[in-house]
Amino acid sequence: MSIIQFPADFCFGAATAAYQVEGAWNEGGRGLSIWDTYTRVPGNIRNGDNGDTACDSYHRYEEDIACMKELGLRTYRFSISWSRIFPDGAGEINQEGLDYYHRLVDQLIANSIEPFCTLYHWDLPQKLQDNGGWKNRETIEAFAKYAEAMFEAFNGKIKYWTTFNEPWCVSFKAHYIGDLAPGEQNLQSAVGVAHHLMVAHGRAVQIFRKSGFDGQIGYAPNVSWREPYSSRPEDAEACRRRVGWMVEWFLDPIFKGEYPDFMLRAFEAHGAKPDIRPGDMEIIHQPVDFLGINYYTGSLGRYKQDNGLFELEDIDEGYERTDFNWPIYPEGLYKVLMHMKQRYGAVPIYITENGACYNDEKADGKVRDPKRIEYLRKHLLQLNRAMEDGVAVKGYMAWSLLDNFEWADGYSRRFGLIHVDFATLERTPKESFFWYKKVISNGWLEV
Ligand code: BGC
Repeated sequence: MSIIQFPADFCFGAATAAYQVEGAWNEGGRGLSIWDTYTRVPGNIRNGDNGDTACDSYHRYEEDIACMKELGLRTYRFSISWSRIFPDGAGEINQEGLDYYHRLVDQLIANSIEPFCTLYHWDLPQKLQDNGGWKNRETIEAFAKYAEAMFEAFNGKIKYWTTFNEPWCVSFKAHYIGDLAPGEQNLQSAVGVAHHLMVAHGRAVQIFRKSGFDGQIGYAPNVSWREPYSSRPEDAEACRRRVGWMVEWFLDPIFKGEYPDFMLRAFEAHGAKPDIRPGDMEIIHQPVDFLGINYYTGSLGRYKQDNGLFELEDIDEGYERTDFNWPIYPEGLYKVLMHMKQRYGAVPIYITENGACYNDEKADGKVRDPKRIEYLRKHLLQLNRAMEDGVAVKGYMAWSLLDNFEWADGYSRRFGLIHVDFATLERTPKESFFWYKKVISNGWLEV
């Protein structure tokens, strides 16, 4: 047996998001978000599920934090629901909403768990959507005000901020692929939204810096990897476009102050381009303190004429798959981190999400989920490999602490280290919980 050792100050954590766990959709003065309306449209969500109750963490946060404490978490990544704070997206702060997050954060701090806060994990206040949502430039300033209010309210308590979770999902999945709220299918809308998100991110960073708030700020794109199937240049180019869709499109503007040419050309071939106003690229091009990276899957890729946006075909037969049918490709995590290091330098990185869907159920009071353990173990190994090769990884947050509302798939996909019975809301730590607990307390992993 050999072991890999993580640095003593490595931030082992776990993550959740407001709409996926909180419930209490109409309590504490909360306004509606696009997910409240989207889930009410028949056919949008599997089994007609919604997040009205979810894990009920709004009421059970103390129980959740007790679980985190038992797990030995050093960091808890959660998101704030914008419509709890500003029920209409702007205007007066809803004190009850703010109080909830103060209770949560205070309880985390009292248990020596570092709060790692995401400002936007997909739940735009519905009122802003009624005015065009992220397609409307005015949403940028509404976000900047919301961000500023949160920095002020939690100054000194929350030291780690991420502006956006997975801007690719908010733009391309929600506005082009169309299976997340608000569920549009238009490439130009998606490219426009992506641009507005990045400007909004930049505005929040500017405000954070100018006001001298205590702490660090970053953003959390989701990335993937496609390894060329052969040495043919067209395979490499198609894979590059696919990776560029998630990596360069969302990171070049931040680190280089410009969009990548090869991707501008790829979108222009489909009649889409960002509407860049004077000053936008300077706003986006702000140094960040860290990057949050969400990684789940990847595969080989091969050029295929006229196939989709990027003329790419995924070659993923023979891969093991999770219960979400996503191919398991831990090496992709290593490869994408090395690619990012080469392009952007040794930026501090937190893996803000990594995890797997397995729907193991309770038997004899236990939940045995060996495949999740194997998934996490393999990804931690690749992460460690990247660290040995110079990637500045500071922490790792498993997705997710709890089984929760998995967006369009409702409650049918379980990602948690803790099983949630959605009828009784009872929490049961899975085997992966105890495995992760040991990794955290040892600070090392057997290979
Ligand atoms: C999202 C999570 C989601 C997870 C699994 C990520 O795309 O940030 O909210 O539950 O992946 O699909």
